[in-house]
Amino acid sequence: MLRRRSILKLLRERRSIRIFKRSRMPDDIARLIIEAGIRAPSYSYLQEYSIIMVSDENLRKELAKLCEGQDELIMNAAAIFLICADLNRPARMLSLLGHANVLRSNKHPVESIFAVFDAGLLTAFMMIAAEIMGYGSVILDYPIVYPNEFAKLFQLPHGVVPLVLLCVGERGESPPLRPRLPLDLVFFKNSYREADLDALKNYLKEFEDAMRREDYARKYVGLNMDYMEYLKLKTTLNDELKKTYDAVEKFLKENLMKF
Ligand SMILES: Cc1cc2nc3c(=O)[nH]c(=O)nc-3n(C[C@H](O)[C@H](O)[C@H](O)COP(=O)(O)O)c2cc1C
Repeated sequence: MLRRRSILKLLRERRSIRIFKRSRMPDDIARLIIEAGIRAPSYSYLQEYSIIMVSDENLRKELAKLCEGQDELIMNAAAIFLICADLNRPARMLSLLGHANVLRSNKHPVESIFAVFDAGLLTAFMMIAAEIMGYGSVILDYPIVYPNEFAKLFQLPHGVVPLVLLCVGERGESPPLRPRLPLDLVFFKNSYREADLDALKNYLKEFEDAMRREDYARKYVGLNMDYMEYLKLKTTLNDELKKTYDAVEKFLKENLMKF
């Protein structure tokens, strides 16, 4: 009972850590984190993911260049794991069975979605394991935004899609718990209930207040603006984002979503 409560406490108090004290993780600890991660359930036992740990310091420097604005985080993190959705290995494995398997075809929507799902569960398990061992962590989205650059840097074969970087390190900050939508907007009993716009508006206000209290945009992005302004800036479909997303779409169609 005591153990159950303490893991629950750890989950309820988890927050992303973006400022690390510089350190390097011993291999045996990294292995424990990965071994815990791969205990996550996976679709049809296929484990449609791969993990690449950055252990080479020159590669880490190259990575820091790719992750513009987060170079300090990248250089200080004790361990960095590139998490990929992987249809390459499952396709090779199924080909050994000699049947007309779906991964030989262009029709595998379920396998494609679950590759991302499997990788997400793996990442969550790894984060929790890292927390249990006293580390903090954050997920970075650069790999999926710049898949061609990551595929080149990490020599990814066809069918392997870089999704996120899981950065784990010694905490150099103690940020507040970040806001969450009220439970009644995300959890329903028996049937779906569409979110009321007033309730969403209230939440946006609460969210903005919390981010302002934390001084979030200035602290992490160096921008002197409210979080909503930052969010709008980040999600405006301008020509630059369109070009970036065209490249992501092309990469996904060639490597994951062939349907
Ligand atoms: C798929 C995914 C991508 C993320 N990408 C980034 C990122 O690029 N940069 C970042 O600072 N945080 C990133 N995060 C972390 C979220 O911003 C963070 O989890 C969220 O704001 C909630 O804060 P909390 O984890 O402290 O509760 C990402 C999280 C997920 C799940």
